[in-house]
Amino acid sequence: MKQLFGYFLIAGGFVFAIVLGVTFYILRKFKVSDHSKQHFDTHESHKVEYLTIGFASVLVVSFLVLAIGAINKIQTPIPEGKEPDIIITGHQWWWEINYPSEGVVAANELHIPIEKRLLVRLESKDVIHDWYVPALGRKMDMIPGQSNYVWMQALEPGHYDGACNEYCGAQHAWMRILVVAHEQNEYEKWLADQKKKASIPQTALQKKGAKIFQDKVCSNCHAIQGTGAVAGIGPDLTHLGSRETLLGGKLRNGPGSLKDWLRDPQKVKPGAHMPDFLFTEEELNALTAYLYNLK
Ligand code: CUA
Repeated sequence: MKQLFGYFLIAGGFVFAIVLGVTFYILRKFKVSDHSKQHFDTHESHKVEYLTIGFASVLVVSFLVLAIGAINKIQTPIPEGKEPDIIITGHQWWWEINYPSEGVVAANELHIPIEKRLLVRLESKDVIHDWYVPALGRKMDMIPGQSNYVWMQALEPGHYDGACNEYCGAQHAWMRILVVAHEQNEYEKWLADQKKKASIPQTALQKKGAKIFQDKVCSNCHAIQGTGAVAGIGPDLTHLGSRETLLGGKLRNGPGSLKDWLRDPQKVKPGAHMPDFLFTEEELNALTAYLYNLK
């Protein structure tokens, strides 16, 4: 894509320079300083006409060919029977990330290996969202009841930012995407960690938090693998503590921000579907300790 843009820029600049040059040439040549001599011998030149038509045609056709090549590269037809590597589902206002062949479910942060060209299936649970990570591929609508596909590829390890690109309600602005591209061996390590069941609560505080999680019906919406909680309405929390951000990129993950969120969800992210459970300070401490321990 960058190449195609470069070609267009160079060709456009070249044509612009020619037009400017010819304009100034004509302005100088046909400058009228003495109005009594306002007469020029003009006649058409077939040579100039053929030259300009030929030049313009070659430019237009070559860019058509280059553009078709670029489109083919970006949206390569999906081979028959090819299953998606990753399935991403848009929710108000977070991303569910599934690695179907690995049995791994994550949220909001997409981890991928570098170099490999990944087929991503895009879905929506509620309204129309729009997946867009500019550095890694094209943007694509996520439409309820319809599967759309994009190819994604990162050439360098690192963090890539993206965001939802279709207005989808109150917290559309906080539907950020963080893609973390790993070297192959690091990616495999990440996958192996994600496959593990949730960390067992160790301290008394963490144990208390685990009990609150079950008693206060958090488990009606959130799954924590290895416990009885399997619901998929809100983000999977099995490895919540390992994530860099919370709430679709709104907060850096940490005990403090997690506690703020649990204390008053509507204040932190107005409109979010997380109810306010009116936890006491003691309950907040326990729940934070439990959830942040889920690495
Ligand atoms: Cu989702 Cu905007």
